[in-house]
Amino acid sequence: MNRKYKIASLFSGCGGLDLGFIQAGFEVVWANDFFKEAVETYKANIGNHIVYGDITQIASSGIPDNFDILLGGFPCQGFSVANTKRSMEDERNFLYLEMIRLIRDKQPKFFLAENVKGLLSMQKGKVIEMILNDFRELGYKVDYKLIKASEYGVPQHRERVVIIGNRLGLENPFPIKTHGEENTLYNNNNNNLKPFVSVKDVVGHLAEERPRVCSFDIDNKTIYNHNARTNVADKFWGRKHKVNQHEICDYLKYWRNKSGWSTKKIDEHFGYAHTAGHWFRKDNNSGSIPNPKDWWELKNILGFDDKYDKAVTELELKVIKFEQSLRINNWDRPSDTITATGPEIHPNKERRMSVRECAIIQTFPDDFIFKGSIGNMYKQIGNAVPVLLAHKIAIEIRRFLDNHNSEILKEKNGYRTIEENRKIREKVS
Ligand SMILES: C[S@@+](CC[C@H](N)C(=O)[O-])C[C@H]1O[C@@H](n2cnc3c(N)ncnc32)[C@H](O)[C@@H]1O
Repeated sequence: MNRKYKIASLFSGCGGLDLGFIQAGFEVVWANDFFKEAVETYKANIGNHIVYGDITQIASSGIPDNFDILLGGFPCQGFSVANTKRSMEDERNFLYLEMIRLIRDKQPKFFLAENVKGLLSMQKGKVIEMILNDFRELGYKVDYKLIKASEYGVPQHRERVVIIGNRLGLENPFPIKTHGEENTLYNNNNNNLKPFVSVKDVVGHLAEERPRVCSFDIDNKTIYNHNARTNVADKFWGRKHKVNQHEICDYLKYWRNKSGWSTKKIDEHFGYAHTAGHWFRKDNNSGSIPNPKDWWELKNILGFDDKYDKAVTELELKVIKFEQSLRINNWDRPSDTITATGPEIHPNKERRMSVRECAIIQTFPDDFIFKGSIGNMYKQIGNAVPVLLAHKIAIEIRRFLDNHNSEILKEKNGYRTIEENRKIREKVS
């Protein structure tokens, strides 16, 4: 089917999520955000249908009817489920209630909400439960999934919760993983996944390019926004005490053997792919000490004593020197999450990753040009859903909508008059 399904988009930012859907053939008819520079970027690259303003101040009557999908990555600061008597007049003014309002008022076929992983653990899972229930009460079939962008070809281990709902009675579609760890002699992931895309794969060509505000050409391609912050001394939370990795490794191995847990089972418990192995590897190049959060969880499952608790878990704020920063970015692996607050330091240059490099890691196209101050550009990019991930989700939803529509037509054709069929076609278009 060649029909363009229509989208309304809340909390659109600079448009990462929207762009992925547009690339999959959807049409965004209305979008909104109150982040001025993000709106400027959106207008310059996607379209003038974005309305600048606070969504809580925009009446449903001011938003078009008859869209098929509502998109929105609602912010989730300040959630509390203490007050269980919720209503639309709720003084806590949760922003996801704006999605609820529009779903109730406009009845789209699908909705999709995106959020940070932390949403799942907020108030011991009560927040996500509350949100899902509120969506379900509108009569939608709702599912959610924690999605790791790197497993869909994005060069970034970004994890996000994707909530999808539909009122067509369909199973909610989620994309299938396409990428994973490369098979090696020791690690055979036994599937047909392509290897993760690394940072070097996508931004290696910019490593030797001096950052600058103006655009320039390399290999007949114009590079925009390759400007970068050059403050490479910063602070980070580091271990307060000197800890010997070999000692910790021996200690953890002893407790692991005693408890009967295998490394694989520990990884599964944490939801990691190949991290626990490093805790039991006595090797300065690839062995590592668990971070405090993982340490406490490890203690829960292996039941070890308090001997190293203090040494491993006490942190202090330290100043990063450039040399230390060399290890911050994963050059040969997918990057850590590109955040809205400030990018990582380039692995081999005395500068941070440029706006363009961050945009590329977030899978924005090369000709997508960001507007605003450098800080605001970094923020727009860090806030965004990787375009490629959005695209893959969009393709699945599109497939479901197409199948659903052709089923309706098939079912009805032949049993109805031409006039009735025309009405059905109108209904599904
Ligand atoms: C996580 S970002 C969304 C990013 C976007 N989905 C993308 O892929 O580029 C959340 C956005 O919600 C916007 N926002 C927060 N509160 C808002 C409000 N009351 N009205 C309109 N926009 C709001 C922020 O300005 C921010 O751009």
